[in-house]
Amino acid sequence: MSDKVFIFDTTLRDGEQVPGCQLSCTEKLTIARQLELLGVDVIEAGFPISSPEDFRSVEAICKAINDPVICALTRAVEKDIDVAAEALKYAKRKRIHTGIGVSDYHILSKFKSNRAAVLERGVAAVKYAKRYVEDVEFYAEDAGRADNAFLAEMIEAVIRAGATVVNIPDTTGYCLPAQYGAKIKYLMEHVSNIDQAIISCHCHNDLGMATANTIAGIANGARQVEVTMNGIGERAGNTSLEEIAMILKTHQSLNCHTEIKTKRIFVLSTLVAKMMNMPVQANKAIVGRNAFAHSSGIHQDGVLKNRENYEIIAPEDVGIAQSSIVLTSRSGKAALRYHLERLGFTPATKDLAKIYQKFLLVADGKKEMTDDDLMVLMNQAVKEDRVKLERLQVVCGQPLHPVATVELSIDGKIERACATGNGPVNAALLAVDSILGLKFELEEYLVQAMANGSSDEGKVNMRILYEKGQYHGFGVDKDIVLASVKAYLHAVNKIAIIKAPKALTANKKIAV
Ligand code: KIV
Ligand code: ZN
Repeated sequence: MSDKVFIFDTTLRDGEQVPGCQLSCTEKLTIARQLELLGVDVIEAGFPISSPEDFRSVEAICKAINDPVICALTRAVEKDIDVAAEALKYAKRKRIHTGIGVSDYHILSKFKSNRAAVLERGVAAVKYAKRYVEDVEFYAEDAGRADNAFLAEMIEAVIRAGATVVNIPDTTGYCLPAQYGAKIKYLMEHVSNIDQAIISCHCHNDLGMATANTIAGIANGARQVEVTMNGIGERAGNTSLEEIAMILKTHQSLNCHTEIKTKRIFVLSTLVAKMMNMPVQANKAIVGRNAFAHSSGIHQDGVLKNRENYEIIAPEDVGIAQSSIVLTSRSGKAALRYHLERLGFTPATKDLAKIYQKFLLVADGKKEMTDDDLMVLMNQAVKEDRVKLERLQVVCGQPLHPVATVELSIDGKIERACATGNGPVNAALLAVDSILGLKFELEEYLVQAMANGSSDEGKVNMRILYEKGQYHGFGVDKDIVLASVKAYLHAVNKIAIIKAPKALTANKKIAV
């Protein structure tokens, strides 16, 4: 039977200390309810003496929450403890979290004190808190940089005073995983009454090691972890709840489990990100936008054959509907087929090769191919373009005005027009407009070499606006005026194909 690791969530206390992340009482209540549904064991609801608003929030959470223990933070100060006890009055299960700095940095330069006096204050705070509640957690602030022998002495004394949980914070995120793990091992071996309390890990992420340190703590005997949703928290943040829950689920060899209902992770992650104005970075483990997104052809092919080729967690396990196979110019045929089939197309293998060539041309100019892009691609693949370029001639140079002559075939009927413009491309596009009898607004126009280096082909990406719709066009040619007209017609044909071509059908020049 594996050991239970208790999840102590401090999103509403350490997480909320981040500038710009402050929550209203109602928002805190919403998050607390979701934390309860997620299955956390302890909710650190706030630091009641810090403000009347914090006091009210802790009180409201105590009234609303049934299962998790509600915890309130204090310094090793009697007044703090009195106020915390008052705020916790309505909690069904309550805990006071009190403590003091134990590193020489804190002892000498923060408290201007000495180890013996700080030890005495810590013990006194635990005894004082015990007058109000049975469950008292002691934090040894900056334990990560504290002398292990003094830390052990302090921990033994506070357990003797009644602490039920002893928190060993790496407050500055300084420790290496091996160091933090060794610290917990040292306490397990040198604190004679350690069996009477639970060791808790509280790690900050200043060097990006919060999760690794917490896991090292668990591997050495800690059975509570202090975490936040999305890893938010002071500076670089705290250990992230979702990472610990999924590591313990994935690595059964650690022989530990949590009671987190992992399928609820993503909903809460999104809620916290929104409410706290802290967007989750795209590549954040477990909950980032790209955590289950595969974009290279080799990976996409592998995932489509067997998800486990490139995924160690099933996205549904954390509440994400499915892995996403992102279509970009680096995708292969397997990914293209997957999306086409999802959209209801069933291309034969020989057709897929042709569609893939077209796909590459379009995808090359875009970050990502959307379903709309694929629909256009497929409509073009199965339908002939209605508007085709037959001829183009441009005369330009100084001091002439550029003149373009364009010949189009529209549903097989040849139409011709001539136009002048402020440049050769402008003249050519105006000639197209005059044949179609329509006016498109050119919103974006980009000319690039087809490949880096000395390629002599130019590619043109453009976006045109028509009746409030935006249409992307792409064209390639050695002649950039020709590439521009191709791109223009590419976009124009989308309007003719995708939109019920009201304007086009109404126009006498394009017969349907
Ligand atoms: O990081 C820290 O040391 C803390 C304590 C107050 C628990 O947040
Ligand atoms: Zn902290």
